[in-house]
Amino acid sequence: MRQSSLVVVANRLPIDDNQAPDGACEWRRSPGGLVSALHPLLRHTPATWVGWAGGTGPAPALPDVDGVRMHTVALSSEDLRDHYEGFANATLWPLYHDSVEQPQHHRRWWEAYQRVNQRFAEATAEVAEPGGVVWVQDYHLQLVPGLLRALRPDLRIGFFLHVPFPPPELFMQLPRRAELLRGMLGADLVGFQRVQAAHNFAQLVTRVLELPATDRRIGIDDRVVRIGAFPVSIDTAEMAALADRPDVAARAHRLRQDLGDPRQVVLSVDRMDYTKGIEQRLKAYSELLASGDVKVRDTVLVQVAMPSRERVGQYQILRERIEREVGRINGEFGRVGEPAIHYLTQPFDRAELAALYRVADVMAVTPLRDGMNLVAKEYVAARVDDTGALLLSEFAGTAAELSQAYLVNPHDLEGLKQGLRAALRADPADTTQRMRAMRAHLHQHDIRAWARSYLRALDEGGGLISRLTST
Ligand code: ADP
Ligand code: G6P
Repeated sequence: MRQSSLVVVANRLPIDDNQAPDGACEWRRSPGGLVSALHPLLRHTPATWVGWAGGTGPAPALPDVDGVRMHTVALSSEDLRDHYEGFANATLWPLYHDSVEQPQHHRRWWEAYQRVNQRFAEATAEVAEPGGVVWVQDYHLQLVPGLLRALRPDLRIGFFLHVPFPPPELFMQLPRRAELLRGMLGADLVGFQRVQAAHNFAQLVTRVLELPATDRRIGIDDRVVRIGAFPVSIDTAEMAALADRPDVAARAHRLRQDLGDPRQVVLSVDRMDYTKGIEQRLKAYSELLASGDVKVRDTVLVQVAMPSRERVGQYQILRERIEREVGRINGEFGRVGEPAIHYLTQPFDRAELAALYRVADVMAVTPLRDGMNLVAKEYVAARVDDTGALLLSEFAGTAAELSQAYLVNPHDLEGLKQGLRAALRADPADTTQRMRAMRAHLHQHDIRAWARSYLRALDEGGGLISRLTST
């Protein structure tokens, strides 16, 4: 088995099994913020990515992706049901997102979570070079740092949580809270998106494990675990260059024509998830149509909602509700050839997404809770002419950085409508000033800056880090 000095461990690999129209298997980039963040970073780095390829049964052998070795971990159909759909996405995901849907608890799910985390730890132990750096990602794998340390105490282990880490009152509901905290403390550095999350973690460690903890350091056994906030970002320059390409600009122009040349285009791009506030946004938009504040010929809404975790009950119900509501709104307010909402559930390649961002006068990103939300950052990066208004939820991690956005509370319907109206009617000089400031911020705080700050803290000046982040 070939070994690497840097190993990234994430539930999902950056490519996904996809059925081509002719029935053949093809690989395409997986959706979601984690892959969007890490994929550009690792390109052409001699690293290994340990993860799941999206199906069940034996692990497929995957080709390297842009020089990064893919090491597949197999999930059986029981693992998929009880680990991925169960404990990860029906217990932890809702709980970590303010319990906007009810988290469910089943003992069988916890057993699967332990089993799958053990398998990931063993696979990682095989491919990490002696003394290497391992970077474990996200809520699916919270036990891996502890399990891996037991197998390979020689490694430097980092853990980063892409989703929010909840306040103690919520986390305390978890029957296996102590084990989950102890698992994360197997790392040398535990990173979160926001300072508040690190604070929540330190409080919980003190309360549940009775360990000495501050918001920066925790003592466990004879080790010190450091904790901190490292807000994740995007490849800003890459998105800007893509959006600036003549073919992308031409595509944006054509898209506008295809939309009927409206005065204004409002865009939302989400994974179809109940945390994203899609229903609340549709309700606000529908009320603006009903009151005549928004007129169909003048303004169109393009809602991209990529289906996600489709076998989980809460996601199935959500999709049905959204599609019913889109149908109702189009039935009530659309005209022949002029729907009020253009609703798309397809995956798009990066160039098409960039063209969509370019065509959007207003980008509505209004999650009820989101660890970060990279779509908001991608939109800003793509606005190379400094135009466009970003309507952004206060409850997205992004809001802590992009304070020049039009900030709204998505739970407040009137506030949401007011925010949309304000963004639609904004003075172009004002939006340009805001956009310029946000773009400047993202050029400085891009994905490389994120990786640099995290890995420097983890590796304490090791040579690996400068190699990885200088490209
Ligand atoms: P999450 O991590 O919850 O999925 P983010 O907004 O952080 O949310 O990241 C979503 C990522 O998925 C972004 O990089 C976005 O461009 C990508 N994405 C969303 N919808 C689609 C789609 N329909 N086709 C391709 N990529 C998509
Ligand atoms: C979020 C999570 C990621 C996850 C992604 C897509 O970004 O933080 O860990 O990969 O959503 O979700 P999925 O369930 O399809 O992997």
